Amino acid sequence: MKELLNVKNIKAQVEDKEILKGIDLTINSGEIHVFMGPNGAGKTTFANVIMGNPVYEVTSGEIYYNGKLINDLAVDERAREGIFMSFQAPIAVSGITVENFIKTAKTAVTGEVQKVLPFKRELKASMEKLEMNTSYAQRYLNDGFSGGERKKNEILQMSMLNPKLAFLDETDSGLDVDAIRIVSQGVNDFHNENNAIVIITHQIRLLENINPDYVHIFVDGKIVKTGDMSLALDIEKNGFDAYKKDVK
Ligand SMILES: Nc1ncnc2c1ncn2[C@@H]1O[C@H](COP(=O)(O)OP(=O)(O)OP(=O)(O)O)[C@@H](O)[C@H]1O
Ligand SMILES: [Mg+2]
Repeated sequence: MKELLNVKNIKAQVEDKEILKGIDLTINSGEIHVFMGPNGAGKTTFANVIMGNPVYEVTSGEIYYNGKLINDLAVDERAREGIFMSFQAPIAVSGITVENFIKTAKTAVTGEVQKVLPFKRELKASMEKLEMNTSYAQRYLNDGFSGGERKKNEILQMSMLNPKLAFLDETDSGLDVDAIRIVSQGVNDFHNENNAIVIITHQIRLLENINPDYVHIFVDGKIVKTGDMSLALDIEKNGFDAYKKDVK
């Protein structure tokens, strides 16, 4: 297994408020990691920091990706290096179709203009795999999409952009059984020994068919415990209280 991400003592803040308070984490290719933890613990912030979202200021620590220090890389450069993040609450973008959005993103990420027909063919194949009606390609991004359709769209973007390290930030509510199946199947179909996926979730049901290698518990800007699926099951049963006590 190849080391993909190595984060050393990352601290990050927004407007002088420290949110990440020293996080260490290693992710190898071929692995699936899960982030759990109470609301506001810093899970989404961590993904944003790795993605290079300029809203968050990294005040100390190092982020190595593929062995390279990437602290100073801009978000688009990180995307080109193969880092991807889906959004917890995807916004509707009026005036841009699903097809054009993905095409623009893929052009930006690969640095190659997408040829019309091969791109359309690839998109169609990916949509069919996700059991999406291919007419959705011409709809405006997320505009009037149901929760499940947004999820499919997110997985579609991931499979078309083919990242090496993908953060899937899942909503804690509103995912029906179909949406849960879509995400877990999409993750399993996409996952291989050359990529790694981080799933941020409050829903243990999402993990049932996924088989994560590691489960990390975030509390107050730190990873307070790392384990396997049994840790997620323990959280489901007993909540986060036992871990909150560890936080000074
Ligand atoms: N852009 C921002 N401006 C101000 N505060 C922020 C910003 N982003 C995050 N925070 C704060 O940082 C803390 C951690 O937020 P974050 O979204 O990372 O939590 P989370 O673990 O993803 O929670 P949830 O499970 O609710 O999604 C919260 O207190 C949040 O209000
Ligand atoms: Mg979050």
